[in-house]
Amino acid sequence: MTRRAALGVMSAASYQRIAGANDRVQVGFIGFGLIGAQHVHDFRNQRDCDLAAMCDVYQPRLEQGVAACGQRAKAYSDFRKLLENRELQAVVVSLPDHWHALVTMMACAAGKDVYVEKPMTLFVREGRWMTDVARHHQRIVQVGMQQRSGRHYQHAKQLITSGAIGKVISARSASFRNVMPGFGNPPDGPPPSDLDYEMWLGPAPKRVYNPHRALYHFRWFWDYSGGQMTNLGAHEVDIMQWVMQQKAPSAVGSSGGRFALQDNGETPDVQDAVFDYDGFTAEYSFREANAGRRAGAGGLEFCGTKGSLVINRSGFEIVPDAKIPPSNAIPTFQGHPTGGPTKVAGQMEYWTQAAKEPGSSDEQFDLHVRNFLDCVKSRSIPIADVEQGHRTATAVHLANIALRVGRKVKWNATTEQIVDDREASAYLERPYRAPWDRELRSLLG
Ligand SMILES: NC(=O)c1ccc[n+]([C@@H]2O[C@H](COP(=O)([O-])OP(=O)(O)OC[C@H]3O[C@@H](n4cnc5c(N)ncnc54)[C@H](O)[C@@H]3O)[C@@H](O)[C@H]2O)c1
Repeated sequence: MTRRAALGVMSAASYQRIAGANDRVQVGFIGFGLIGAQHVHDFRNQRDCDLAAMCDVYQPRLEQGVAACGQRAKAYSDFRKLLENRELQAVVVSLPDHWHALVTMMACAAGKDVYVEKPMTLFVREGRWMTDVARHHQRIVQVGMQQRSGRHYQHAKQLITSGAIGKVISARSASFRNVMPGFGNPPDGPPPSDLDYEMWLGPAPKRVYNPHRALYHFRWFWDYSGGQMTNLGAHEVDIMQWVMQQKAPSAVGSSGGRFALQDNGETPDVQDAVFDYDGFTAEYSFREANAGRRAGAGGLEFCGTKGSLVINRSGFEIVPDAKIPPSNAIPTFQGHPTGGPTKVAGQMEYWTQAAKEPGSSDEQFDLHVRNFLDCVKSRSIPIADVEQGHRTATAVHLANIALRVGRKVKWNATTEQIVDDREASAYLERPYRAPWDRELRSLLG
């Protein structure tokens, strides 16, 4: 029997152990940073789970994490040991992006269900590997794209699908902020003695320690992340593809660069991406050195032939378009030889109804965790399943690939290949550093 088949048997056995509707799910947490702490808070508020284990490679955070779990959690500094804990049915992976795929797959192989943060992957190929491994071991994988769980996001999806704003011809989204001059330029040096930097790096390339190549600021380095395109862009592109029921763009173009920030980060501080879909286009833009003034500087706007639906975590609004005789749209200028186009008089009418609905970020986190725990018990597919996480991550990775090669890339969603572009295709996969490359090979069988 292959190792993979043996693991399959093990996960089938653990499937039998899965809690019934009234049982408590034993949950382990891997990573207690910005979002890890939010997850501990949200799981603590559920009626049917125990916060049973905590792992972090930075000792102060491990201690804070155990305390946040009410001191009942077992402490681990090596996630492999946590995965050996047979009491745990589920783990929450709140690690930097370069760890998401490997830890998720190892957890699935160890018989655990997984809640893993977005962006689900660091590079495109990881998403298919994760989906295959999760399916093989019959594991539930929920991706931290929690906006999907928000009631107002679900209502907006329903309204758009039923034609409330007409035919959607484009969607545009943005995240603008001004963090000039950036986060500083700390010098390289030895890692803190209470941080296991080797384990923080894991499969990523070996680098001299810098305080920014670790907690939180890993986001601005290509080794660990795709910058704001995959960090914030993943949330908006996810909702856009989910509402529009799209598997993938057929092509993506992107422009941008690092034009203003003066810190030691690498990823762009300005980027615009345009995604082509069947019958509509979508944009995602971010600015790190300008907070923006126009409407739509944050969140997502669906543009339909009857009006627009503008949505963010705090709510949505439908802004109807006025029904105007097309000739009234022709501008009037002074001195026109015939006096200019004739305006058709009449009462102002609108194509659709205005509407507004509030939403709450706290509710989105809470309901997303609830959906995960319900699926752990029922074995149903969660709202942000691993395959969905792969689709979202693929779109934003393609935007970064287009930026890095300096041209539009075409995507074949069936074969999951970039069309006729070897240079761009090389970005679809990256090597893992030893010994994690061996771990990957054994997972993929
Ligand atoms: N869903 C959301 O709204 C949302 C919000 C914030 C962050 N995120 C995502 O969550 C992930 C984590 O981001 P963050 O801001 O919390 O980062 P962070 O740096 O604050 O926290 C990550 C934690 O993981 C620990 N860690 C790193 N390698 C480890 C390992 N091998 N084993 C155990 N612990 C390890 C670090 O010490 C750190 O405490 C990112 O992928 C980010 O995109 C999602």
